[in-house]
Order: sequence, then structure tokens, then C-alpha cells
Amino acid sequence: MGLFSWLGDDKQTTITQEEIKKESDFSSFKDVTDYIYDKSGIVDLDKRALTASSLQQYAVSEGVYTTKEFIDAMQNKDNFYQDIINIATVNETFFMRELKELEWLVSYIKELDRPLKILSMPCSSGEEIYSILLLLKIENFDINKLDIRGYDINSQAIEKAKNARYNEHSLHKIDTDIKDKYFTSIDKSSYLIDSSIKIIPKFMQQNIFELIDQKNIYDIILSRNMFIYFDEKKRELATNIIANLLKSDGIYIKGHADHISQNQSLEKIKYGIYKKLN
Ligand SMILES: C[S@@+](CC[C@H](N)C(=O)[O-])C[C@H]1O[C@@H](n2cnc3c(N)ncnc32)[C@H](O)[C@@H]1O
Repeated sequence: MGLFSWLGDDKQTTITQEEIKKESDFSSFKDVTDYIYDKSGIVDLDKRALTASSLQQYAVSEGVYTTKEFIDAMQNKDNFYQDIINIATVNETFFMRELKELEWLVSYIKELDRPLKILSMPCSSGEEIYSILLLLKIENFDINKLDIRGYDINSQAIEKAKNARYNEHSLHKIDTDIKDKYFTSIDKSSYLIDSSIKIIPKFMQQNIFELIDQKNIYDIILSRNMFIYFDEKKRELATNIIANLLKSDGIYIKGHADHISQNQSLEKIKYGIYKKLN
């Protein structure tokens, strides 16, 4: 198996650390990680030794041998930057993660009982969105009236979300009876979610920082466990973007470990849940 199997068959390679050292010069690699940080907000990539070395291995496999060539490839070479982002991001997620907030949200959606626009950003491979839809469906709520979207900067995660095929780890918090009712076992280790749920959400590759000009669109935004990869400057910008994307009275749900920046238009209701003021 190649080092980049998660990038697809055509990207597989078996370049070793020794070959990278012999063939390449990434001595000012921080210029590369600064470029990625500016665009995506992801900090400290140069300090994450394994990720930095994976990025360099990938570059060499693509014929890119110096920092200057690396930056040039991110700007001009087809798919190179997206592959770099796919390697650099951590997509860990699972069904029913941080359940208290999801249960609160399900009661809130049932109480409003009207068409709503909901965004999960970052959605990673879709488990968060499908968890909400699953919980609503179990309570006989008509999920067809929801416009629910999932955005994530990682294109591989988005493809996985669209396929809605999950392994045991993703499902480990789901009760067996729910699993049996709403998932079809494809083989010993993967499960497909019920088509009545799969058809509802729309998934798209999207960087939060490219939504800076959009305003007043969503009734509910979940943005959980992304701010942990940002510094204060990017957290502040991301908080403003989320506040602007919300309609007045809209709801924002953050992750347990996320530190959001002070924002005058967001009022805390309880634990990780905020309401946008008028
Ligand atoms: C740990 S996952 C969280 C997924 C899910 N919300 C949860 O809590 O389980 C973090 C996700 O943030 C995404 N991400 C990082 N930077 C991003 C950005 N600038 N715009 C959109 N998504 C981003 C990553 O690709 C990754 O899938």
C-alpha cells in the first residue's frame, strides 16, 4: 500500500524519508505552511512532524523538490493544493458526537416546526448531519422540509459524506436497534445509511474563509471542532463569518473544545449554544 492511499489509487507512492532528503530542499518549509495558514487558517503545520513529512513526500511524488516549487505548485498545478489540504486536515468525527447539543437542537427544530436552512461547517464526512436527521426521523419529524448543507475544506471527506458509507468506528455510539433499522450492512465492516436520510443533505467542498461576503442565510449553523486548528486571529474572523451567515435569531452551536472569539451579535443561551441578536 502506498503512502497516499487516502488520495486515491492514482496518487499512491512509496517514497521514503531518505529519498526525500536526498532529492529535495525544503529548508524554508515554514513559507509553505504560512501559505496554507493564510488561506485555510490551519496553524502549526510545520510543527506537526508527521504531517509536514507527508506533505513533503507527496510533493516529491509529484516532482516538486523545493519550497519555491511547492508554493508555485499550490498556486498553479492542478489538484495539488486540494491534495495538500486533504493531507493537512484532521477529519475525525463519528455519529452522535457531543450528543447533548444535538438533542437540544432536535427539540428546537421540532418546536419551530417550519422549513429551516441548516449548515454544518465543517461537516467532515457527514456523520454530524446524518445524526441530526436520524434523531429527527426517529421522532417522526418530516425531514423533507429541511434545507440542510454540509461544507468542508477536505474534498475526500465530502465525497465520503455523499457516499454515506461508514465503518464501525463511525457508528460506535449508535444503538444496535437503530443501526439495524437505518443502516444496511454492505460487508463485514461498512454500512450504508437509509436512502430516505441520504437524499436530504447537500454536501460541498468549501473553505469557511471564502464565505466572507455572504450574509443572513442560515437559521442554524453547527461549527464544531474546527476552531481547535485555528489561532486567535483566524478564530475571530471565523466567528464573524458565522455570525454574518446567520439570520437574526439564528442558532450557532460550537464544539466542546472550541474557543470562540467575543462577538457582540452572538449571545450564549446555554453550554455550546448561541443565538444571533437582532
Ligand atoms: C475534527 S473535524 C470536525 C467534524 C465535525 N464537525 C465534528 O465535530 O465531528 C474538523 C474538520 O474541519 C475541517 N476544516 C479545517 N479547516 C477548514 C476550513 N478553513 N474551512 C472548512 N473546513 C475546515 C477539516 O477538513 C475537518 O474535516
